[in-house]
Amino acid sequence: MDDKPENANASLADRSDFPSLERKYKGHTLSYFDGPAGVQVPRQVIDRIVWYYSHCNANVHGYFVTSKESDQVVEEARRRAAEFLGASGPENISFGANMTTLAFALSHAVGRHLIEGDEVVITQLDHEANRAPWLGLRKKGIVIREVKMFSDGTLDYEDFEQNITKRTRMVAVGYASNAVGTVNDISRVEEMAHHVGAWLVVDAVHYAPHLLIDFDELGADFLLCSAYKFYGPHVGILCSRKGLLDQLETDLLRTQIQKAPWRIETGTLNHAALAGVSAAVEYIAALGDGENFRACIATAMERIRMHEGILARHFYDGLKEIAGVTVYGPSFDDPLRAPTVSFTLEGHSAAAVATFLGEQGLLVWAGHFYAIRAVEILGLADRGGLVRVGMSVYIRRSDVERLLDAIQVIASGKGGAS
Ligand SMILES: Cc1ncc(COP(=O)(O)O)c(C=O)c1O
Repeated sequence: MDDKPENANASLADRSDFPSLERKYKGHTLSYFDGPAGVQVPRQVIDRIVWYYSHCNANVHGYFVTSKESDQVVEEARRRAAEFLGASGPENISFGANMTTLAFALSHAVGRHLIEGDEVVITQLDHEANRAPWLGLRKKGIVIREVKMFSDGTLDYEDFEQNITKRTRMVAVGYASNAVGTVNDISRVEEMAHHVGAWLVVDAVHYAPHLLIDFDELGADFLLCSAYKFYGPHVGILCSRKGLLDQLETDLLRTQIQKAPWRIETGTLNHAALAGVSAAVEYIAALGDGENFRACIATAMERIRMHEGILARHFYDGLKEIAGVTVYGPSFDDPLRAPTVSFTLEGHSAAAVATFLGEQGLLVWAGHFYAIRAVEILGLADRGGLVRVGMSVYIRRSDVERLLDAIQVIASGKGGAS
C-alpha cells in the first residue's frame, strides 16, 4: 500500500486484483499508461458484474424478487456515486451511457430555457464533450464565448472574467485537462459564474480518478464524470445540485419518473454496469481507511494523489533529461496537477512513438484525445498531437523507468519510431 520511492515494485493497489496486468504481449509485461482513456478493472468490479447477471438480472420497478433487487442495485450505485463525489445523496445522481451522452442531454435541456442572445462560456482547454454540446446551442442564437488558454496549458482567468457577462447563463469548464494535466481553479470560476447568476457545469472526468471531489463544497450546479476512468465500467454520471434537474425541460417519456434523478435518464440503464460502479467506488474506499465510507474515500484519494503524483513527477523529471523531448502542461511545482504527462519528441510523430512503445508493452496514447481545441492552440493539431502518459494505482516506479528507457532509445536514434 505504501509508496516508498526506493521500492520500484510498489504500487498502491494490490496488482493481483487486476487480471489484465498478467497479460503479456510479445513476451513483454503490459504497463498500462493509458489510464486517461480508461483504466484497468479490478476483479472485485468484474465479479460484481458477473454476480448481477447470474443473480438478479431483470428490469426495474417490478413486483418480483429479481426486479426488486435490480432496483436496489441502481439505488446502491446512486448512493455510492454520491459518496464518491461528496454529494448529499442518491437524489443528486443520474446515470447515462457515458459522460458525452449526458452532456448532450443536459445541453438540450438547458437550451430550452435559453433565449436568443443568452451566452454560454466554454474553454479552449476542454475536451470536446464539454464544448460540442454547448456549441450546438448556436443554432438557437445562443452566443458561445470561448476562454483562452496559455501555452503552458493553464486557463487565462482574466479572459474568463471578461467573457462572463450579464447575459451568461451557463459556464462549462473542466476540472482537470485530459490532454496536459492542468487542474483548473473551479472555486474562482464558480464565484465568477454565480456572481452573474449563471449555472456552472464541471467536467470532472479526468479529475475524478486522481483527486478528491467534494461536490457540495465545490458549489457547481452540475458535475459530470465517467466510471470507466476510476476502475469501473462504462457508465456516465451526472451529479446535479438539488432541485435543479426538476426545473429543466429534459427529453423524457411520459412513462418515466418525472423527478430528479430519473428526469434526465432515458430508457433502461445498464444495471450490471451500475453494480460495477458501486464495486469500483468500494474498491477505491478500500485503499483508504477512516470512520465512515466517505472518510475512507478521502484517505484513499489522498494516497492515490501521493502515489500517482510521485510517479508522474519522476516521469516528468526524467523526460526533461531526454534530448529532443518537449513536455507540455503546467509544471509539477503547481500544488495541484493531474498525474498526466504529455510530450512530443523531435523528429518522431506521436503515433510513431506510441507504436514503438506499444510493441514493447508500454501502452501510451497519442493524438488529441478529443481535447482537440487545446492541441490546436498548442500548434500540434497538424503535427499528430501529443504522446500522453497517465499514472494509475497499479503503476510502479519500475514501469516508469522502463518507459523512460524506451523513450531514450527512440531519442538516441536506436529505436524504430519516425
Ligand atoms: C476530460 C474528459 N471529458 C470528457 C470525456 C468523455 O467521457 P465519455 O467517454 O464518458 O463520454 C473524456 C474521455 O476521455 C475526458 O477525458
